[in-house]
Amino acid sequence: MPARSPNVPSSPFAVPLPDEPATLLGNLAPAQFMRRYWQKKPLLIRQAIPGIQAPLSRDELFELADSEDVESRLITHFRKSWAMEHGPFAPDELPSVKKRDWTLLVQGANLHDDRARALLDRFRFIPDARLDDLMISYATDGGGVGAHFDSYDVFLLQVHGKRRWRFGAQRDLSLKEGLPLKVLQHFEADEEWVLEPGDMLYLPPHIAHEGVAEGECMTASIGFRAPSASELSGQFLYHLAERLDDARDAAAKSVQRYRDPDQPAVSHPALLPPLLIERVGSILANIAWNEKDVASFLGTYLSEPKPNVVFDPPRRPLNESRFIERVKQSGLKLDKKTVLLYDKHAYFLNGEQDLLSGKAKKWLLELADKRYLEGKRFVTLSGDSSMTVLLHEWYCAGWIQVDANA
Ligand code: SIN
Ligand code: CO
Repeated sequence: MPARSPNVPSSPFAVPLPDEPATLLGNLAPAQFMRRYWQKKPLLIRQAIPGIQAPLSRDELFELADSEDVESRLITHFRKSWAMEHGPFAPDELPSVKKRDWTLLVQGANLHDDRARALLDRFRFIPDARLDDLMISYATDGGGVGAHFDSYDVFLLQVHGKRRWRFGAQRDLSLKEGLPLKVLQHFEADEEWVLEPGDMLYLPPHIAHEGVAEGECMTASIGFRAPSASELSGQFLYHLAERLDDARDAAAKSVQRYRDPDQPAVSHPALLPPLLIERVGSILANIAWNEKDVASFLGTYLSEPKPNVVFDPPRRPLNESRFIERVKQSGLKLDKKTVLLYDKHAYFLNGEQDLLSGKAKKWLLELADKRYLEGKRFVTLSGDSSMTVLLHEWYCAGWIQVDANA
């Protein structure tokens, strides 16, 4: 296995432009890819990233899997029996790399490694709001996770060794019972390809697939989130309830509470009073929301760090004026764990929302879209002192890093 991979370019410069043919997409422009394939049909791209090396070596991946902050799974198919365990895994808890038929999946590699983050950034022709994470799998010969389908879009990029992919739309999506992972009962493939390093397979949701390692193999899965209607509704109502609470705290006098001065005495005390149902119905009917509330919910929900994300503030932070000097020289970038989204009215940073003032619009949208600001650009924009105060705060929280190219 290679020790390191020097050839994944640093993130800001590799994002394909919507109308320019991109090697990553087999010379389709992102706009064409989105129109013809996205959420519609699979696409095999030979040499999407020619000369690629795994963003992490095998040992580096095993080291990540040994960490409490990282979500990892070990899937084995020894003697034709599926088993799954959740990490963290100390190195001696993983099977020998000489043993066949096992795979280690490491979720969110982009949150922990700059090379994995740079690889993920190549896919930013798709909105950040849809981006989930970059998972890296390591497998020994014969290893895989069985034939299954996912509910989200995925780019399966071969980064080391070979993997045989079989895939196709299925009429029957029923799963084998009693297994620790989702394996299809009757999988029928329409297509079969062996992917080599640099090759990539795009699969829309619900296309069944099975990838089997041919020798030692590593695959990067760039996955996109697609929350279900019930998840969205539940989370939105929760967001709305919090907002209502805030509004009520602000105007405690106007708290709307159930009242029943005309409740008669009852002979069936266990009966839910019809009056109660009717009145609570009319309180609920007053709950209203508009597009701004939906945007505010989506921005905060989708930029919220995953539960295992911990930011690393600088141990000895620069004071504000030294920070400004450093940024003038070498620029700044968003930390790899940071999510910064915006809409017309507000910006959303790691789950927090704030109004987008006219002044902030100038630099904030540029930083959000590019994820970095070069020193020279910062000098042009930094006439606004509220900008430097805010950026210094974000730096102290570990949300941004000085040096755009580090
Ligand atoms: C893998 O990399 O082994 C699994 C990826 C997938 O099938 O979604
Ligand atoms: Co899958």
